[in-house]
Amino acid sequence: MRILTVIGTAHNGNTRAVTDLFLDEFRAEGAETDEIVLPKDFDEFCCGCANCILHGEDKCPHYHKIAPILERMEKADLIILATPVFVGSCTGGMKALLDHLAYIWLVHRPRESMFGKTGLIITSAGGSGVKATVKLLKSNMNYWGISGVHSYGVTTMKMGGNYIDYKDKDKIKKQVKSVARKVIRSLKAKKTGFKIRFLFGLFGMTQKNGWNRTDSDYWKEKGWLDGKKPY
Ligand SMILES: Cc1cc2nc3c(=O)[nH]c(=O)nc-3n(C[C@H](O)[C@H](O)[C@H](O)COP(=O)(O)O)c2cc1C
Repeated sequence: MRILTVIGTAHNGNTRAVTDLFLDEFRAEGAETDEIVLPKDFDEFCCGCANCILHGEDKCPHYHKIAPILERMEKADLIILATPVFVGSCTGGMKALLDHLAYIWLVHRPRESMFGKTGLIITSAGGSGVKATVKLLKSNMNYWGISGVHSYGVTTMKMGGNYIDYKDKDKIKKQVKSVARKVIRSLKAKKTGFKIRFLFGLFGMTQKNGWNRTDSDYWKEKGWLDGKKPY
């Protein structure tokens, strides 16, 4: 099992600590791991040209930086998106990366390799915002074509500290173990659920109208407009 972790902070704090607990569980199962730390490994903001969607991803001014990241994502069986909650959402670094991947949403040019992958979202917040952050990241993963998306959010009531100082650290470890077991089961099942299959069918109908030639040519080439499926 290959894992790519995309961590939306370089801060060695709560998110890092909880992510490492998960990685320990997965490594114990023989997982190989790869990691992208934001913004260190990707530090661009989307400039809004929409070239990626309208004219092809290679027309993005940051293509040379985002393409190798997507390649690493494609190689993974499990993609982890880990982020602290900043002002009610993911970090700016995480959001900037997600913006650069708009063109792989199901409504545009989804990658076959995404279907059947498993996703895991890890968040840590001081008090609130876990739910909204998980929702945002889960919808991104779903729109990339990933069905089995799990999540773990922890509310620390602390800033700048580390879960190791917390009185409920044993509870956190137990919860992490339980979510990790579910993730491992999902990895074995490699299923594409009804919601993704439904959305794929729906967006396939819109591709038949071909409002964006770059997208509809891609769907045509894949044979998806003639009944072929990526899952
Ligand atoms: C800029 C900033 C914004 C934050 N915004 C929120 C927030 O909206 N809601 C919340 O509950 N905690 C918020 N926090 C607290 C962090 O989410 C919390 O301490 C988290 O565990 C930090 O993760 P880290 O140790 O991995 O950096 C914020 C912290 C910072 C630095």
